[in-house]
Amino acid sequence: MSQYSIKSLAEYFDVYRKSVSDPERFWAEIAEEHFEWHRLWDRVLYWDPVKPEVRWYDGARLNITENCLDRHLRRRKDQAAIIFEPNDPDSPAVTITYGELYERVNAFANVLKSQGVGKGDRVCIYLPMIPELAVAVLACARIGAIHSVVFAGFSSQALASRIADADCKLVITADGSYRGAKTIDLKRIVDVALESCRGVERVLVVKRVGTEIEMKQGRDLWLAPLLAEAPKTCEPEVMDAEDPLFILYTSGSTGKPKGMVHTCAGYMVYTAYTFKNIFAYRDGDVYWCTADIGWITGHSYIVYGPLLNGATTVMFEGVPSYPDYGRFWQIIEKHRVNQFYTAPTAIRALARQDLSYVTRYDLSSLKVIGTVGEPINEEAWHWYNEHIGQKRCPIVDTWWQTETGGIMISPIPYVTPTIPTFATLPFIGIRPALMDAEGRELEGHQVEGRLCIKFPWPSMARTIWGDHQRYKDTYFSTFPGMYFTGDGALRDAAGYYRITGRVDDVIIVSGHNLGTAPIENAINAHPAVAESAIVGFPHDVKGNALYGFVVLKGDASDADPDVLRREINGLIADSVGPIAKLDKIQFATGLPKTRSGKIMRRILRKIAAGDMDDFGDVSTLLNPDVVEELKQNAV
Ligand code: WTA
Repeated sequence: MSQYSIKSLAEYFDVYRKSVSDPERFWAEIAEEHFEWHRLWDRVLYWDPVKPEVRWYDGARLNITENCLDRHLRRRKDQAAIIFEPNDPDSPAVTITYGELYERVNAFANVLKSQGVGKGDRVCIYLPMIPELAVAVLACARIGAIHSVVFAGFSSQALASRIADADCKLVITADGSYRGAKTIDLKRIVDVALESCRGVERVLVVKRVGTEIEMKQGRDLWLAPLLAEAPKTCEPEVMDAEDPLFILYTSGSTGKPKGMVHTCAGYMVYTAYTFKNIFAYRDGDVYWCTADIGWITGHSYIVYGPLLNGATTVMFEGVPSYPDYGRFWQIIEKHRVNQFYTAPTAIRALARQDLSYVTRYDLSSLKVIGTVGEPINEEAWHWYNEHIGQKRCPIVDTWWQTETGGIMISPIPYVTPTIPTFATLPFIGIRPALMDAEGRELEGHQVEGRLCIKFPWPSMARTIWGDHQRYKDTYFSTFPGMYFTGDGALRDAAGYYRITGRVDDVIIVSGHNLGTAPIENAINAHPAVAESAIVGFPHDVKGNALYGFVVLKGDASDADPDVLRREINGLIADSVGPIAKLDKIQFATGLPKTRSGKIMRRILRKIAAGDMDDFGDVSTLLNPDVVEELKQNAV
């Protein structure tokens, strides 16, 4: 018997040792004992670090939705699978049992089939956090279509580029979405996006807000009548272990988003196993992750991980500040939530509010509380521990990425002693390495370097959709043979890891990864702009905020700076989304550059942080006088 649920630190070390000394045997046992397969694998792991190519459970056949749904019908037909908490606190919550979810997914799968979608086709899902989102994801998986969920806060241009990159055939959206007191016209955003995406044959529209929208003849259909007519059972498509399950886009160092490809079997095994252990989920618990399903956290730990374990997972449509800052805590009390998983930026925003927003609710149901998305600062950790966990609940600070599919470094609650700001120990099977700038591995304790993973794990992304070379260049070339995360980390005397932040040109703002390149491209599209550079600077709530240095063309120097600032942020909102707007914009006559023409972002970061003293080695700088000017005019 494999140890599926780890109960002591000694057991963790024991299982960890087994998982790294004989990974194939270990992952075979977990997979065989806890999942249903149509056929078992011929080989557990194939790994070629040069190509790079990784395959887990090669030859196995399965459908992930049978593991999420069908097998639970025996024991859990009437148990809640999803509890939907709407944006409006006065609207009733909706409980969807495993039996109902099974029928809804199957009906939706039949609708997709009737619209000509089949195995391997890409389906773009652009929906708010309503049950149809989870149902649509599973319906795609049921028939072997590859879902590409795009977070419904992205602009039409960002949506269009993702639809085009994956060559999606069908889009699923809603008339609109609720966000606090606001409504957003999602369908309009889709209509604009589709002006430039010819390949989309069909748009299915969920009625959510009931606003008047335009339905394009021959292309757009309301979902509800189709669902009403669809049969409620649909034979699952039996998939190969390595068939793609989904594509999810993440920001990168160029303007083009990277479509990370996750495959069926390895992703299933790893998300289920991590969910079970890292949230210490026990039968009957109610689990709530506040992320959006548009991000990897929602894919792995709202939908797949929980449902694979037969858990009850809460989906919340709204925002933490509506109708007031007590909403999260009110929901915990209302649904007797046992595991709560959120982002440091939300914790910081809520910690600034009056404590009575917390104390008026009963949080005694909580057993485990977690964070993800960015480093959690010490102050926020203590507030979370004291006021939400009430010093009873272990905090799981979980480090992972879109690319890793599942949690990689994290405490196991009630097992791993926690220390504020440390993600602590690698999860079972994960072999982190810290590397120095010369590519040497830093052995031992009390070292800091670039975080890599030395050995494959089941849920790692297999490629970038349509661009395997970029996958190799981005992740496997900096330190040959190893997966490079883009993060820095340190390892302390106890072997605990603390993530120090990105070491590349991704900036995490309010938990959202933003690449600098797409934002700079948006700014440079302004007719008055010659060039620009953006950097992050520390922000109390967002973690980082964006600071733009903008060089205007010669003939634009007498333009009104406030108008320009508004126009620049408008361009960014259109091309990336409102989350990427700049907090500060400084106009300059030039940017500090090296002789080879590279912008010295290190200097810009210091100026943006208001730290003007020591710029380090500036001997390679081509234009030192521009630094003086930038310092003088910092905003
Ligand atoms: C950061 C989110 C510190 C990190 C699951 C990573 C974290 C990026 C943590 C991935 C954490 C995530 N502590 N930093 N616990 N969790 N990060 O792809 O920089 O949206 O590389 O995946 O978030 O963000 P992504």
